[in-house]
Amino acid sequence: MSFQIPRGTQDILPGEIEKWQLIEEKAKEICRRYNYHEIRTPIFEHTELFQRGVGDSTDIVQKEMYTFKDRGDRSLTLRPEGTASVVRSFVQNKMFGNPQQPTKLYYIGPMFRYERPQKGRMRQFVQFGIEALGSNDPAIDAEVMALAMELYKELGLKHLKLIINSLGDTDSRIAHREALVEHFRPVVEELCEDCQSRIETNPLRILDCKKDRNHPKMESAPSILDYLNDSSREYFEQVKAFLEELNVPYVVDPTLVRGLDYYNHTAFEIMSEAPGFGAITTLSGGGRYNGLVEEIGGPETPGIGFAMSLERFLVALEAEQIELPLEQGIDCYVVSLGEGPKKYSMSILKQLRKAGLTADRDYQDKKMKAQFKAADRLQAKFVLVLGEDELAKEVINVKDMATGEQVEVPLSEAKDYIMKRLEGGTAS
Ligand code: HAM
Repeated sequence: MSFQIPRGTQDILPGEIEKWQLIEEKAKEICRRYNYHEIRTPIFEHTELFQRGVGDSTDIVQKEMYTFKDRGDRSLTLRPEGTASVVRSFVQNKMFGNPQQPTKLYYIGPMFRYERPQKGRMRQFVQFGIEALGSNDPAIDAEVMALAMELYKELGLKHLKLIINSLGDTDSRIAHREALVEHFRPVVEELCEDCQSRIETNPLRILDCKKDRNHPKMESAPSILDYLNDSSREYFEQVKAFLEELNVPYVVDPTLVRGLDYYNHTAFEIMSEAPGFGAITTLSGGGRYNGLVEEIGGPETPGIGFAMSLERFLVALEAEQIELPLEQGIDCYVVSLGEGPKKYSMSILKQLRKAGLTADRDYQDKKMKAQFKAADRLQAKFVLVLGEDELAKEVINVKDMATGEQVEVPLSEAKDYIMKRLEGGTAS
């Protein structure tokens, strides 16, 4: 019997993992520049957190969660997203009491949703996300969007579109909600089963329905932007002004509705416009969630954030045919012949590695020619050759694989010689 990986998951193997690491490093580096700090929360939480946080009426909670009972009969759920967990931790650890606010956090880790897998849509996927808690300044909405765009751009993506909308404050949302119910009520029987219940639970989500997308009432549906009260409209205007200040292009789309319940005011998505991207074009999603901290049991605290999956990032890179600048090859490969040299090669490796170089040797008792072949395969920059004669003379042959040049250097100087050559200097 042989085992297969569960549907919607993947192994990320050497050769591929370097791309993930590069994106992760870049994300961390950008977070450092924007002063966001990493937070790590558990992979599973009490199910109720997501029911309350993400929202009972969302597809995520209704259809997509990996929920199980533990041996103590508690209902636990593999996290389907990061925001609810971060807010739970913010409240539990009383981060709202820290003198420095807003609290600016980021996370990178696996999330789990029972969705129908396809390219860019997995059941286990890795999200990079940020959350800024404790500020009602529209400038931070712009900062969050700018950070997301910057990460994509710095890794080479060009065909991006930032779509923004405002869902307004509670009053605006209630007014819009009533208008939506009035608009769709007369045709409710013509809508899909989900939308028939959405009209009671969350009519905004009808606008987001894939099945009813072409219903004639869809296009004429009341736009949230017509229902924003003065303060919500002003807030949105300021967010846009800050984006302009940052030179981040955007498109306002009043039909943008996010799939999670906690949003108000700013909502946004970043789409790929690369030809050949495939069916799912959303790379990132986020927005403001001013009521969520209270919902999770904390004091009234505004919040905003976004998340992107690395899976979709990679699909976008592929669609734009961008090769990431990955480091290739190792620095040194030690070829040794005979028992003494083989033993001594361990000391050489130790020195090279201690100096920070990537160094390796043969562990399969291969002949010299095969050892050179291995060095080639590993794309070694330098091959160090040690035979009995060299060892007796306390020297080693260093071959620069790029130029073919071969030099004999004293064993005690081999490391420094290679370090100098790698720095681009000339060895004496
Ligand atoms: P979301 O729109 O559900 O929002 O997901 C954000 C991003 O996660 C998506 O744009 C996509 O890149 C990725 N994603 C979602 N589902 C999958 C999947 N099945 N396979 C691959 N990638 C996927 C959230 O999760 C919110 N927590 C974002 C947020 C943070 N809002 C405020 N703060």
